[in-house]
Amino acid sequence: MRRFFDQFKKNSVEINQTEQPSLPVDESYSELIKKTNRGFLAKKIGQYLGLDSLEGDKLFYFSLSTSSFSHVTKYEDQHTTILYFSEKMLDWYDQNLDVVEQIKNLNMSMIFQNALLKAYEIHQKDLFSSKLLVNPPKKSQQSQEEKIEWKIYRDVMFSATHGQFLLITENEAASYKKGNIFCEGIIKESSDIPINRNMAKESLEKMGINKAKMMSWLLVLSEAITNTIKHAENGKMTLVENHRTNEIYFIIEDNGPGFSLEDLPKKILLEGYSTKRSMGQGFTLMRKMANKILLSTSPSGSTIILIFVDREAKVGRVNEESSA
Ligand SMILES: Nc1ncnc2c1ncn2[C@@H]1O[C@H](COP(=O)(O)OP(=O)(O)O)[C@@H](O)[C@H]1O
Ligand SMILES: [Mg+2]
Repeated sequence: MRRFFDQFKKNSVEINQTEQPSLPVDESYSELIKKTNRGFLAKKIGQYLGLDSLEGDKLFYFSLSTSSFSHVTKYEDQHTTILYFSEKMLDWYDQNLDVVEQIKNLNMSMIFQNALLKAYEIHQKDLFSSKLLVNPPKKSQQSQEEKIEWKIYRDVMFSATHGQFLLITENEAASYKKGNIFCEGIIKESSDIPINRNMAKESLEKMGINKAKMMSWLLVLSEAITNTIKHAENGKMTLVENHRTNEIYFIIEDNGPGFSLEDLPKKILLEGYSTKRSMGQGFTLMRKMANKILLSTSPSGSTIILIFVDREAKVGRVNEESSA
C-alpha cells in the first residue's frame, strides 16, 4: 500500500472511468447524506493530493453510486483507496474514535496521511461536529461568556510569551495593512513559497535591511507561508513597512479552519507539536526570530502578522498600539 502511494506521488494512475455511473433512486435520506459527505471528503482529499477537479468530480459520483467501500481489501486504484479512507474517517467519527490518531496510525505514505489530516481539519465543521473555535470578538455575535473567554486566552498567551504573542480581532488585523505596502502575493501551492519569498527578499533589499537579518526574516516568513499550504487554503502575503515605528509587518492571511481557543497554547507554545505528520517547529522558529506575532483567527480563516523591528531604538509596544 505504501508503495502504491509512493508511486502515486510521481505518476498519477490513468483511470478509465469516463462515463458517469447512474445514481440509485430509492434510498433513505441518511444513506444519501452519508454518500454525499463521503464524496465531498474524498473530493477534498483528492484535491490535497494534487488531483484535478475532474478527478474530484469522478470521486464524488463514484461515492454516490456505491453503497459501501468497507469490503475493499485490495487497493486497485486511487479512487477506491481515497473513498475507502473517506468512509473510514466518517465511521471513526461515528464510533467516537480520535480521527486524527487513527489517521496518524495508518500504514500509509506521509503525503497521503497529511491529505487526510488536512481534509479532516479544514472540513471538520462541515462534516463532523466542530470543537469550540476561536471567535474574534465581533460584538454583535458573541455572547458575554465567549468574549470573556477570548480575553482570558489573549491575556494568558500574551503573558506566557512576555508580550510577544497577541490575539487580535479582525479589525485590528486589518489596521496593520494601512502602512506602506511593499509587495503582495497569492499563496495557493508549494511553488508559491519561493515566489513569495523572493518577492519579499527584493522588497527587503530595497528597504536596505542587512543581509543576515533579512535571511532570518525570510526563513520565518517561509514557515508561515508553508503553514498556509499545509494547514489552510487560499492564502495571501502582504509586506508592509511602518516608518513611524521602524517595523516591518509580514501579513499572512488564509481561508483555513482557524485555531480553536483550547488548542492555541499547544500549537503556539509547545515545541514539536503538530496536528500533521510534521516537525511542529514553525511557531517555535517564528517565536525565536520575530519581535512580535499577532494572530486573528476564526473558523473561516486566520491572519498572522509577524513583526520585525529594523532599529531596536524605536520598538513600539504591541499592546499599546493594537489592543486598547
Ligand atoms: N494557517 C494555519 N491555520 C490553521 N492552523 C494552523 C495554521 N498554521 C499552523 N496551524 C496549526 O498549528 C500547528 C503548529 O504549527 P507549526 O509549529 O508550524 O508546526 P507544523 O506546521 O510542523 O505542524 C499545526 O500543526 C497546525 O495544527
Ligand atoms: Mg509549520
